[in-house]
Amino acid sequence: MKIIEKELLTDTPFVAVDLNIMEQNINWLAKLAKEGQIKLRPHTKTHKSPWIAQKQLEAGAYGITVAKLQEAEVMINQGITDILVAFPIVGKKKLERFSELYSKAKLIVALDDYKVAQGINDVGEHHKAKIPIYIDVDTGLRRMGKTSQESLKEILEIAKLPYIHISGLMSHTGHAYKERTDEAIRKIAIEDATILNQTKEAIERAGVYVSEISVGSTATVRFLKETPFITEVRAGTYVFNDRAVLGTGGATETDCAATIFATVVSKPSNERLIIDAGSKTLAQDLYREGGHGYIKGFDNLAINRLSEEHGIVDIIGKCSLNIGDVVEIIPNHICPVINLADKIYGFRDGIYEREIRIEGRGKNR
Ligand SMILES: Cc1ncc(COP(=O)(O)O)c(C=O)c1O
Repeated sequence: MKIIEKELLTDTPFVAVDLNIMEQNINWLAKLAKEGQIKLRPHTKTHKSPWIAQKQLEAGAYGITVAKLQEAEVMINQGITDILVAFPIVGKKKLERFSELYSKAKLIVALDDYKVAQGINDVGEHHKAKIPIYIDVDTGLRRMGKTSQESLKEILEIAKLPYIHISGLMSHTGHAYKERTDEAIRKIAIEDATILNQTKEAIERAGVYVSEISVGSTATVRFLKETPFITEVRAGTYVFNDRAVLGTGGATETDCAATIFATVVSKPSNERLIIDAGSKTLAQDLYREGGHGYIKGFDNLAINRLSEEHGIVDIIGKCSLNIGDVVEIIPNHICPVINLADKIYGFRDGIYEREIRIEGRGKNR
């Protein structure tokens, strides 16, 4: 993005959002989901901003996804009330907070274990209501969820709890970020949905019916219309995109809505320069092909090391950049970058338009 008011570039580092690209991304997935007759419940972990969540809802999202109760609180406080908490709620205090939020909003909660379901069941008993839950199934990520086969027994036990309603099965195809070809990524999307559907059919044979098959990830989302069985999609990163999405072929540079502007503050040698964006700005997530972000327009620069405030950039060959020059960086993983910023800045056609407060940042409980 070309920022027209040059003075703004004299106070870096900051995250800039190209609002036209962001809106394009929001509308793209809303349209894809609508055409596929699939509900869109974007994961707001990427932007952590009620203002952007509202834009996603206005574009056609059915509800939103958050990871933590504090993130749900932020959204509820701004009037957003149809929320999937895609993270197990464990512990007395958390259950108390969940119970309080349950009175204010339409919540679904994800879990993968009978013991965790018991806690939610207790909350349901208190409210004299059946609380909707999604069961996490492992379809290849090896994070939450048991395998389809191992899940069966667990799901059937959970279904016996009187104040629980198993409304869906869910997975996350984060493992698709390792892949580089359409073919491999489409295969993961289809495998993922097929495993969830097999689990659904198996529990239905035992008399437990679920209505939703909810899948996530920007890595696989472009194959939405070719993915069978699914009823809901929870992609999050698509709103901004990042280097990891570029690596999967899911976006191009011109689809990256959020970039970091940083200034060259030192050039100690012809092989090295220092920028004012370190780990406090770029976060620590590594990219498979190396480096801590891609400096746009400079294929011969590699941000190979970070201290908190310094980005240490290796120069391969020649580089005309010098102290005071400003670079634009596509981060490896945009979600933790946003989590580090109190505010990000929205631009349209290179002109500053608005500040976007990241109310959900740091909310890890
Ligand atoms: C449970 C869950 N659902 C959906 C998403 C969204 O995936 P992505 O950021 O790849 O779009 C994530 C991301 O971490 C997730 O953990």
